[in-house]
Amino acid sequence: MTTLLHISDLHFGTEIPEVLATLKQQVQAMPVDAIILSGDLTQRARLHQFRNCRAFIDSLGNVPLLAIPGNHDISLWCPWERFFTPYRRYQKYFPTDFDRYGVISAQCGEACLVAVRSTRRYRHIHGELSSRQIDRVARLLKKAPSKALKLVVCHQPLHVTDQEDEADLVRGADKATPVWRAAGADGIVSGHIHQPFIVPIPPGQDVPSQRPMWAIQTGTTVSRRLRDNYPNAFNIISNQAQIFETAEIENPLGLNRPSWGAALWLYDFKSAQFLPYRQYWLK
Ligand SMILES: [Fe+2]
Ligand SMILES: [Fe+2]
Repeated sequence: MTTLLHISDLHFGTEIPEVLATLKQQVQAMPVDAIILSGDLTQRARLHQFRNCRAFIDSLGNVPLLAIPGNHDISLWCPWERFFTPYRRYQKYFPTDFDRYGVISAQCGEACLVAVRSTRRYRHIHGELSSRQIDRVARLLKKAPSKALKLVVCHQPLHVTDQEDEADLVRGADKATPVWRAAGADGIVSGHIHQPFIVPIPPGQDVPSQRPMWAIQTGTTVSRRLRDNYPNAFNIISNQAQIFETAEIENPLGLNRPSWGAALWLYDFKSAQFLPYRQYWLK
């Protein structure tokens, strides 16, 4: 049985101490096997912000972490560093063994995670997926055991639900989506737009494979940089039935014997707790 916690856009430097404390308390009470952190760990890529973020992640216990940098994690204010060593600060506190394509994969219990670094030194906000990255991720997905839940982690989304957010899609999303779907991805795990949702990504007209693939998106988990009315949020992805026992689980794909589900948890300022909001059968 495997349970993954998905957090994102912590933006250390703008974190809300009460939300941080609640998150820690609630996560420590859950049987989390691995944490996915989908970028924007800091607000301005300052060393003390990375240090505080690291200390917080370590305080959650000895849980494996798969993290990728977001656009806020490369320096905006030091062009020299941005050009020559954009990930120096990130790597100091979150050493990550990316391959030459900026991709890393990990097997976490019964889930296979493939994370891709989509930030670019020459693009401040919008990320990009190169054709080599798209192919590399597809190769790793195909190699993963067929029974595993296969997730791709990318800071910027490949799918959005509001038309106004289309400008925030990672460059190359249109190419990567059909390729990764055909290669067996069950979901794309992202942050960046600070809007939580879990929805199936509709297949395009020209996609030969009609396999379901989900956009698993969370908001900022602990920062003040809330967008519109979306509260702080995280996701739980699990094949452990008791995690989802307490409320209804939606089944938009009409799966017969689903085993993996995902739950959107939102912070409720009244009760000062994260509460499960909507839950879905994924696979
Ligand atoms: Fe962000
Ligand atoms: Fe971002």
